[in-house]
Amino acid sequence: MTRTPVNVTVTGAAGQIGYALLFRIASGQLLGADVPVSLRLLEIPQGLKAAEGTAMELDDCAFPLLRGIEITDDANAAFSGANVALLVGARPRTKGMERGDLLSANGGIFKPQGKAINDHAADDIKVLVVGNPANTNALIAQAAAPDVPAERFTAMTRLDHNRAISQLAAKTGAAVTDIKRLTIWGNHSATQYPDIFHAEIAGKNAAETVNDEQWLADTFIPTVAKRGAAIIEARGASSAASAANAAIDHVHTWVNGTPAGDWTSMGIPSDGSYGVPEGIISSFPVTTKDGRYEIVQGLDINDFSRARIDASVKELTEERDAVRELGLL
Ligand code: NAD
Ligand code: LMR
Repeated sequence: MTRTPVNVTVTGAAGQIGYALLFRIASGQLLGADVPVSLRLLEIPQGLKAAEGTAMELDDCAFPLLRGIEITDDANAAFSGANVALLVGARPRTKGMERGDLLSANGGIFKPQGKAINDHAADDIKVLVVGNPANTNALIAQAAAPDVPAERFTAMTRLDHNRAISQLAAKTGAAVTDIKRLTIWGNHSATQYPDIFHAEIAGKNAAETVNDEQWLADTFIPTVAKRGAAIIEARGASSAASAANAAIDHVHTWVNGTPAGDWTSMGIPSDGSYGVPEGIISSFPVTTKDGRYEIVQGLDINDFSRARIDASVKELTEERDAVRELGLL
């Protein structure tokens, strides 16, 4: 195979998501079974030894597509020539901690990383922020990278999207593959709004099929929106394998396109669509093609949805204002 490897940078590589993610990237699941990859692992100094151990294990898999692994605690080196950057490294929320508390703890990480991406990444860089608070961390990184097109900075709501599909399938007895056009709106937080009004189950409208607004309001939406907290409560640690899986899905879909008749959810800089203030990084329904995404336009937003989208967007504008006050924008 003579194709030039794609440089994939993963921050927080020695963490639990990193451990679930790297083997899947190296095996070709991120970009495709014919795309060689070169990994750059960024860690803080205390994480370097564990990252070296993971790299030894990656070597031991003898992955045909893996063309190199570099491990560093220098962001400039880690993002040098990066085509895809997965910003995972952050402080995970622990029991009893609100996501808002994470803003100041994590904000400082993403500004220098955004600058390093600005100065050293490849021209086609695509960034996915996983580390929480993901939407606002993506905004901080994007603001620190004025030379990179803003739309290259995205935040992960694909885990929420996948969770919502799974819950809807369980409720209706449908296969997950029968569910299309589901949308996560807003923030990757408990205010997010999983919207089934435009979703389809085997070609039929999902909200009409369910026909149970009480289940929607009191069970479905809170179960999806608070799933991250439920996993922390049960596992004593935040979701890892499912988060890594969603990161793979997010980038794979961004690069390879959404199937005809379907869309996905991505946290992306708002262009003002659906009344979401321009600039904040909010989740929207998007289609992807040829490495680009577009917001699905023209959806009718009913009052039930409007109130919930607005509430999550309000939280995002408050997070933006808070990090602005901290001098991070
Ligand atoms: P973890 O604590 O196991 O790993 C984090 C790693 O990041 C650690 O190895 C740490 O050394 C490293 N790190 C910290 N600061 C760094 C920096 N400045 N540069 C490079 N590396 C750094 O955490 P985890 O379980 O892997 O989770 C990572 C993040 O992902 C958390 O913020 C978590 O809340 C978030 N998360 C997001 C979603 C989502 O859907 N968006 C889902 C699950 C988890
Ligand atoms: C998740 O959705 O599982 C995580 O974002 C939870 C968290 O706060 O780390």
